[in-house]
Parts: sequence; structure tokens; C-alpha cells
Amino acid sequence: MNSLAGKRIVLGVSGGIAAYKAVEVCRRLMDSGAYVIPVLTKGATRFVGRATFDALASERTQMSLFDEDNPIPHTTLGQAADCIVVAPATARVIGAYAAGISSDLLTATLIATRAPVVICPAMHTEMWEHPAVADNIATLVERGVHIVGPESGRLAGGDEGAGRLSSPADIVAGVTRVLGAGSGPQDMAGLSVVVTAGGTREPIDPVRFIGNHSSGKQGYAFADEAAGRGADVTIVSTVDRPGPPGATVVSVDTAEEMAAATTKAAADADVVIMAAAVADFRPIDPAGVKLKKRDGVPAIQLEPTPDILASLGASKPEGQVLIGFAAETCDVADNAAAKLNGKGADYIVANDVTAENAGFAHDTNEVLVLASDGRAHSIGLRSKRQVAQAVLDLVVADRDGRADVR
Ligand code: CTP
Repeated sequence: MNSLAGKRIVLGVSGGIAAYKAVEVCRRLMDSGAYVIPVLTKGATRFVGRATFDALASERTQMSLFDEDNPIPHTTLGQAADCIVVAPATARVIGAYAAGISSDLLTATLIATRAPVVICPAMHTEMWEHPAVADNIATLVERGVHIVGPESGRLAGGDEGAGRLSSPADIVAGVTRVLGAGSGPQDMAGLSVVVTAGGTREPIDPVRFIGNHSSGKQGYAFADEAAGRGADVTIVSTVDRPGPPGATVVSVDTAEEMAAATTKAAADADVVIMAAAVADFRPIDPAGVKLKKRDGVPAIQLEPTPDILASLGASKPEGQVLIGFAAETCDVADNAAAKLNGKGADYIVANDVTAENAGFAHDTNEVLVLASDGRAHSIGLRSKRQVAQAVLDLVVADRDGRADVR
């Protein structure tokens, strides 16, 4: 109950219809033991009165950059805060924050802080999907700002779609997670998790290979997240990068090597996460010496590689959770559903690798998760760590409800 005890939180509220839900966010932050200072924009007060926050919060509501007692309220607020959460965050506030424009106390405080910031967007779908808003969110995510939501559902005026403010419980859980970094829930303690990461390299000759653009970032984000939640992690990786503290890293190059290492590690695993981009074809007979230009254009004959995910799916031990990925360039949902059924996975995490700020090498991703029981979850653009967190939240919740797990 006192998970936020001793934490000084600035609660920014901007002018959207969802501002009424900020009252509940304020109450829940207070209930969690936080010291809460509300900062409202002028627009917010058209939807909800400052007196409500005055009564609920630790301090009176602040609104003005020009305070009689304190000539620089934004720096005082920004410097002393342990976290700033903006709920709801309108397109205007998101845009001003991304552009570094401080036109009121809330945006000035956001720019004057080095504390972690949690932005909870709420707006109509057309606005949420506008490229300017999407770019601003991507900019903030790249700067390390945490984004909670929005959800899909009923919007003001009876419309339906993406853009609804996350629930107050989810917002407070997001703040708790951000402030408790490193000491989050240990809900994967005792589980053995295998993650594959990176793209395989299939040799043509000793200096050339067939490869792909996978950076391994999403796989390592899963490894970091699972380890942070207490799991015992093994990473089978083509990338030269250390894993989280305590993790075992098995280095491989080819699909064949990845298949051998993953099959071995997966035998006793509770959760297997196949994030690697495995080549589907390899040269049948790689040359033992470098192919020379003077010998002309080589005819390279290819053969299929083992499909690691499909073979793990076919021999899955009871209770094991198998997560596959789908890198697509079109028809994402249909192709992902075909992979889910065809490979015997429990979940497929699918993304459009041609989408802006998502997929290969980016620090952010946007995915569709399909579960074998027919559920589908969209996880909007956010850091790869946050994508891993959302997927593992789902897996842990489902696993807790399953009778067949070990
Ligand atoms: N995969 C695998 N072994 C392969 C190819 C893919 O284990 N030889 C796994 C990937 O790690 C991923 C999933 O299968 O979890 C889907 O990979 P993807 O490249 O999206 O699809 P493919 O099955 O290769 O099909 P296609 O390339 O035709 O889309």
C-alpha cells in the first residue's frame, strides 16, 4: 500500500475531458504514500476544478509561472520531484515538451526536471494517429520518457478507438514501476527463461555471409526485463553484447548453431522467447577459401535452415510457454496468425518492420501480440524494454491462471 512512500510526485493535468480521471490518479498516488503536488494547465480547469486537487493532494494546486512567494516555481518543482506524471497529456503538452517550449508552469516544469517523467496521453484517435503526435511521442521515448497508454475504447462524444487515458490503476502502477526500477515485482523468480537474439549469419565463404538487419535489441530487452523480474536467463545470441547480471550468454553465428544451443537450453525452460531473426536459407556448400572476383559471378545454391521455433513447438514440454516473433512487411495480423498456428507457439509478437520507429535497430517498437486462445493485444509505440515488459505482464498473468504450468 505504501509503495510510493517518501516519493515526491508532481501530478500534471492538462486540458482534456479525461482530466476528471486525474482526480482518481491523485487519490491513488496519495494512498500509495506519495507526496503529491498538482500542477494544472488553464485548459485542465475547464474540465475539473483546482479545489478538488487542493483537497486531495499534499499541497495546493499550482498553475502559474509567476508565484508571489516563489519567483521560480517551475525549477523548484522540477528539481525537487522524484517523478513527474502527466495525466492526461494532451497533444499540445506532448508537442510543447518534445519541442522544448515552456509556455506554462507544467511544460516549464517538465523541461526543468531531471527526474523520470511518465506521460499518459489522452486524445481522439485522429489526433493520436497524426504523424506530428507520433513523431513527438517517438522523440520523447528516445529521450527516455515513459509513456503509459493510451488504451483503445470509448472516447468523448461516443467515438471508439485508440486514445483513451489508461486507467488510474495502470497509471499508478506505471509510476511505481518507473520509481522502483531494479526493485520491481519479482514475478518471474524461479523461472528459467531462454531468449534468442540477433540475426544469424550463413557463410558464403570465409569472409562473406547471408545476414539480416536484426540488432538484437528487442531480444536483449526481453532478457533484461525477465532478469529484472527474477528469472534465470539464458541468451542464445549472435550479438557481441553482455546480458543482464547473472545471465548466461551462449554465442552463436548460424541457424544451425542457434538451433543446437536453443534446443539444449529450452529442454528445461519455463519460457522460451524466440526473438532472433533466423535466416530461412543458407548456402548449401560454403566455399572453403575466399571466392575471387576474377572467377566470375558465383552461383550460390541455397537450402532451408532448420525452423527452430516450429521444432520447439512440435516437442514442447508440458507447461512451457513458447513465444515466437513475426517480422512482417505487410498483412501483419494474417501472417502472424499463420505463424502462430503453423509453429505451435503460445504467442506470436508481430511487427511491421517497415513502420517508422519500429523494428530492426530502432530503440522503439510497436507490436501486435496474438495468443493461441484467439486474444489479440496491440502494444503501441514505446521503448523495446517497455514492449518486453507489456508482453511479459501478459505471459505472467496468463501463466498464473493456467493449471498445466510447472
Ligand atoms: N524462426 C526460427 N527458425 C527459422 C526461421 C524463423 O525459429 N529458420 C523463428 C523466428 O525466431 C521467429 C519466428 O520463427 O520467432 C518467425 O520468424 P519470421 O522470420 O518472421 O518468419 P518465417 O517463419 O521465417 O517466415 P517468412 O520469412 O516466410 O515470413
